[in-house]
Amino acid sequence: MSKAVRVTAAAAVLLLFGGALFFLQTGGNGGAAAGVAPLDLSTSDSCRDCHADIWAEWQSSFHAQSFTDPLVLAKEQSNNFRNQACIPCHAPEPVFETGLGKVRVIERVTQRERGVDCLSCHRAFGAVVGPAMRSPGAANAPCAPIGDAQLASPALCAPCHNQHNTVDEWESSRYPATGVTCLDCHMQPVERKNADGRVRRGRSHRFPGGHDLETLQKAATIEAAVARSDDGSRRLVVRLTNSGAGHNYPADARHRALDLVVTLIQQDGVLLPPRDGGRGYGRERGTERRRFRNPYREETERLTNRELFGRENTQIGSGETITFEVPFDPAAVASARVELIYKLTPIQTDDEGVRVHDQVILLR
Ligand code: HEC
Ligand code: HEC
Ligand code: HEC
Ligand code: HEC
Ligand code: HEC
Repeated sequence: MSKAVRVTAAAAVLLLFGGALFFLQTGGNGGAAAGVAPLDLSTSDSCRDCHADIWAEWQSSFHAQSFTDPLVLAKEQSNNFRNQACIPCHAPEPVFETGLGKVRVIERVTQRERGVDCLSCHRAFGAVVGPAMRSPGAANAPCAPIGDAQLASPALCAPCHNQHNTVDEWESSRYPATGVTCLDCHMQPVERKNADGRVRRGRSHRFPGGHDLETLQKAATIEAAVARSDDGSRRLVVRLTNSGAGHNYPADARHRALDLVVTLIQQDGVLLPPRDGGRGYGRERGTERRRFRNPYREETERLTNRELFGRENTQIGSGETITFEVPFDPAAVASARVELIYKLTPIQTDDEGVRVHDQVILLR
């Protein structure tokens, strides 16, 4: 329903109860039912009182932590937000008010520690925005949600998430054509109990992503097989496909890193050491390794990437397959371990990272 239509409907209801002019003049909160105190839409606290289940999900999400997350506060990052350029997306004004789509977010001055809170996504000029298809109970809800299809669209995520191109990447993936949006992978359907006891279909507000192993495991598939060349030499061929992310993997180009590590193992169990000296990153483990990431302009990793991959940005596009070949001597090598290690920051060690995939392959 458009805003104009809703205001008219609310006004009609209020006229029946009298006092309509008073409510319209105090404005902003036109949806409040007569006799009920208007909702305080200057803070998300009011949402918590009636939507405790969603509040709990949100609190466990990184949206709730975006202003208190130690990784963001770190000295070399926002330095406790002394770098003010970091504040807008991490403590935003409501995006329905500052603009949907690929536009700038504006920083909030109150309750910054709440991070990306309910109001950031649900407040629009003194009203609450809800799903286009309102649940039966929502028609009389004290918060009077306005149905708006834009709430479910990638345009809602874009002001904050397109800084690193995630929405552009989704647009050029195979997903828009099949109607698969951000919500299908990041807001799972859940059942909720309405205030009147009826059950409605809602969406989880946990927003799993790079901190969630299950989500990471959905992102890619790995195939490994031995190939033999005409001259009799052999190589292990590893094919890594971004089969489950609706954008590049790893999604966040700069903060994250994804390392593919292949370790060749001799018959006597000895692990073969790095063949190329590690090429500037991740020397700790493996005979050969490749890193998937979009390094900053000044990083030498760009040069290494150009040499090894023929491109500077090595994030794996949605649907893309990377083929990685590791030659080996069949007389000496018995097996290979193939690991995919996800790192929240590029400086994490292999042991600090999360092993998304780990497999030992016999080579004879
Ligand atoms: C006084 C209680 C109350 C408060 C406060 C409240 N809500 Fe609601 N809200 C409800 C009820 C009741 C419903 C109808 C569904 C239900 O019964 O749970 C509802 C429905 C909704 C819906 C639509 C659900 C649907 O399926 O259509 C949204 C979105 C929503 N609320 C968001 C908010 C936000 C954001 C806040 C904080 C600004 C808020 N609400 C504050 C009681 C409240
Ligand atoms: C107002 C800004 C803003 C909007 C709008 C927004 N996000 Fe976020 N989102 C953030 C910030 C900031 C973080 C990072 C929080 C942190 O880890 O510090 C984040 C984190 C995430 C994460 C990552 C969690 C993790 O494990 O690292 C996912 C997934 C996510 N958002 C999905 C979405 C989707 C999908 C939408 C649209 C429906 C959306 N976000 C809308 C700002 C926003
Ligand atoms: C345009 C919006 C925007 C601005 C401005 C912004 N960020 Fe973020 N930031 C995000 C989003 C969205 C995410 C989470 C999604 C992702 O990882 O892609 C995020 C995630 C992060 C993370 C990862 C958090 C984690 O839990 O792993 C760090 C660190 C970070 N930002 C630091 C910064 C710093 C430092 C600045 C300022 C120099 C900054 N951000 C400015 C939107 C923004
Ligand atoms: C990052 C953006 C974002 C944040 C933060 C957020 N929501 Fe939502 N919310 C959405 C989206 C997107 C939908 C689904 C819209 C649809 O399905 O059409 C939704 C759906 C809902 C619904 C209806 C579906 C259901 O699960 O019941 C309610 C109620 C709701 N949100 C309340 C809240 C409350 C309360 C908070 C704060 C604790 C909150 N939201 C925080 C984006 C957000
Ligand atoms: C087909 C499923 C799918 C779709 C569609 C999808 N994602 Fe993801 N997303 C994933 C998977 C799987 C991951 C984990 C792997 C990764 O980090 O790339 C992920 C990770 C993320 C992260 C975590 C980044 C981090 O560093 O923690 C953010 C943010 C994100 N997605 C935002 C979005 C947004 C915004 C959209 C819509 C424009 C979207 N996603 C569409 C599957 C999807």
